[in-house]
Amino acid sequence: MAVALGWAVAALVLAEGAGALDNGLARTPPMGWLHWERFLCTTDCANTPHACVSEQLFMQMADLLAADGWKDVGYEYVCIDDCWMAPSRDGGDRLQPDPERFPHGIRQLADYVHSKGLKLGIYGDVGNKTCAGYPGSYGHYDLDAQTFADWGVDLLKFDGCYHGTLDLLAEGYKNMSLALNKTGRSIVYSCEWPFYMLPVQKPNYTEVKQYCNHWRNFADVFDAWISIKSILDWTASHQDSIVDVAGPGGWNDPDMLVIGNFGLSWDQQVTQMALWAIMAAPLFMSNDLRQINPQAKRLLQNKEVIAINQDPLGKQGYRITKDNNFELWERPLTGRAYAVAVVNRHEIGGPQLFTFATSILGNGLACNPACSIQQILPTSEDYGLHNWVSFLKVKVNPTGTVLLKAAVIEELPEEKLAPKSKKLSLDTL
Ligand SMILES: *[C@@H]1O[C@H](CO)[C@@H](O)[C@H](O)[C@H]1NC(C)=O
Ligand SMILES: *[C@@H]1O[C@H](CO)[C@@H](O)[C@H](O)[C@H]1NC(C)=O
Ligand SMILES: *[C@@H]1O[C@H](CO)[C@@H](O)[C@H](O)[C@H]1NC(C)=O
Ligand SMILES: *[C@@H]1O[C@H](CO)[C@@H](O)[C@H](O)[C@H]1NC(C)=O
Repeated sequence: MAVALGWAVAALVLAEGAGALDNGLARTPPMGWLHWERFLCTTDCANTPHACVSEQLFMQMADLLAADGWKDVGYEYVCIDDCWMAPSRDGGDRLQPDPERFPHGIRQLADYVHSKGLKLGIYGDVGNKTCAGYPGSYGHYDLDAQTFADWGVDLLKFDGCYHGTLDLLAEGYKNMSLALNKTGRSIVYSCEWPFYMLPVQKPNYTEVKQYCNHWRNFADVFDAWISIKSILDWTASHQDSIVDVAGPGGWNDPDMLVIGNFGLSWDQQVTQMALWAIMAAPLFMSNDLRQINPQAKRLLQNKEVIAINQDPLGKQGYRITKDNNFELWERPLTGRAYAVAVVNRHEIGGPQLFTFATSILGNGLACNPACSIQQILPTSEDYGLHNWVSFLKVKVNPTGTVLLKAAVIEELPEEKLAPKSKKLSLDTL
């Protein structure tokens, strides 16, 4: 029985993998650091030397990713966003970095990042200009893909500003995907295709997944609770069309983690970390690793949360219910386990109790016949054994989240089962 189920799961994973972009990458959601939310288009290195988008910034982040435990827990890609380019292409029509801010060029920066055991991400745009007005890749997809490959780039975030018509948008994203493939270099391809399409037309996610490793659906994240909750609301209200397509090789991207910055309370940072794990989101931090408080660092490096995010089954989670300002989310994990998030959406008052039946989890299967439940966030705690008629009571701070993991117990030790009773009673365990 267990063996048969294992085969069924394996077959399912293969079937899903079959529809993904065939570059062997992003089998689990990619993790790393991306400059945009924290450093934006800061180009004035004279007056803001520590914040400007320069090779120094990326080298420092690479140093810290390698030295401070980030790489060890999975943060791997050091990613450049918009504003790295010179205002025009070179004589051979190739993109070139700003000569003052990247005096040694991208090739050398990539070598440096690689020497730390990390990977380099870069940014381009499908249209005639990037969002900040630098040269776009329209008409140059093959050349730009080859330039990135020659430099040793490992990930491309491809934006959609100035994309022209919807047909050009789709053709551009597809052509760049094919161009990256033709270079022969393994390059993760991060798209914003659905985001630019959504106002006009429902994206065909099956098609998007054939060309992209992850894709943005919704507006840029910013450093405030209103941004985090709008992303969660958008995701829950579109879950019927986006959850099933996610899987090894292709992921919905709710945008960067802003944990460790200025705008989120502790509880709100916990909510972002927990829900990004539930959503199987790529985990790209945008913060300043040179000065991050220890509590935010511990949250971002929490191995149990990261293990949920990186679960090899690769199924995205979803919201099960929303009830009196409480939301209950779950994500199926390998071994028939479930991650469960209880979000308190009240923005007034103090901690509140939320009670729910374990029978609501995993369509009734998560705790059938029994399960052991651990709390992972905001602190680690053992909830012990429960059965399928148990009720759980969790206390959650306003705008905070309690993240749990329920591990099914299929075979209880003989002595723990009441031998003559048909009904399991675990309350006495
Ligand atoms: C390019 O695509 C082919 C076929 O889809 C695939 O087998 C190959 O691994 C890809 N190469 C790269 C570098 O992504
Ligand atoms: C880019 O500009 C050229 C020349 O103006 C135009 O023909 C083309 O359609 C533009 N492409 C996009 C994607 O807007
Ligand atoms: C995409 O590639 C096809 C085939 O080479 C070409 O006909 C088409 O014009 C390209 N589209 C864009 C937007 O570059
Ligand atoms: C979506 O794209 C897939 C793969 O390209 C295709 O087979 C399917 O027919 C498309 N669906 C719709 C509704 O266009």
